[in-house]
Amino acid sequence: MYVRCARVGKVYATGRSAVQAIKSVDLGVREGEFVSLLGPSGCGKSTLLMIVAGLETATSGAVTVAGRPMDEPRTDIGIMFQDPTLLPWRSILENVLFPIRMMRRPIPTYRSRALELLAEVGLGDFAEHRPRHLSGGMRQRAAICRALVHEPRLLLMDEPFSALDAITRDEMNIALLRMWERHKITALFVTHSIREAVFLSDRVLVMNGRPSTIIADVRIPFARPREFAIGDTPEFNALCGALRDKIGEAYRAAGTEVH
Ligand SMILES: Nc1ncnc2c1ncn2[C@@H]1O[C@H](COP(=O)(O)OP(=O)(O)O)[C@@H](O)[C@H]1O
Ligand SMILES: [Mg+2]
Repeated sequence: MYVRCARVGKVYATGRSAVQAIKSVDLGVREGEFVSLLGPSGCGKSTLLMIVAGLETATSGAVTVAGRPMDEPRTDIGIMFQDPTLLPWRSILENVLFPIRMMRRPIPTYRSRALELLAEVGLGDFAEHRPRHLSGGMRQRAAICRALVHEPRLLLMDEPFSALDAITRDEMNIALLRMWERHKITALFVTHSIREAVFLSDRVLVMNGRPSTIIADVRIPFARPREFAIGDTPEFNALCGALRDKIGEAYRAAGTEVH
């Protein structure tokens, strides 16, 4: 397994109280696999992703990435959030190269890679533009390039497209899959959207709430590369229905309703 979480638990100690964000999570992601994590708000998805990224520490259990214990942020991992957080005063190209600057690697060595990545997501003509000249979807495309510029082997994504409109989100899903296929990376993707998880993934894991564990692990059998038309097939909708039932259980366990 490329990513392995074994009985991972997390308790946040805040002042005098403690919040158990994750009870015990076991999960594995194979090399090259695309795995999504679905679950109600507050069930600990972001916490788990931060632990896998080495940006939070687990209070119990163990995490390994590429066979090495995950105990600090590492350069073999790329990460994306809902907010692309581009620096407004820097060009798109400079934003994409920002991790290289932070890692103190030579900028000229990575410049052509950054430009290639931008071309791959259709932003070839926008390298010198400022972020304010780009739409929300285009900014998130730039964020994909920034997450991949240092050639990570693992891409972690925390609801990266949740703030986008439905059509842009569909386009982003296609763009993301193209990049994932081309760069042969391992992906762990957090989302609220059942259809998005099914469309993107090799496997969908359902987390329940609070404190959370994983209650379902569903294989998504569709061939790749995938086209949007699979969303209209009975098989796709049956999988979404089965997952919706599981999530319903998770929401009831979390004491909230499905929206
Ligand atoms: N830094 C923190 N300090 C204290 N509690 C936190 C912190 N981050 C998250 N939590 C709590 O942990 C639980 C899981 O949060 P989170 O991982 O953000 O869930 P999700 O991403 O599934 O919505 C929630 O109850 C949340 O309030
Ligand atoms: Mg979250």
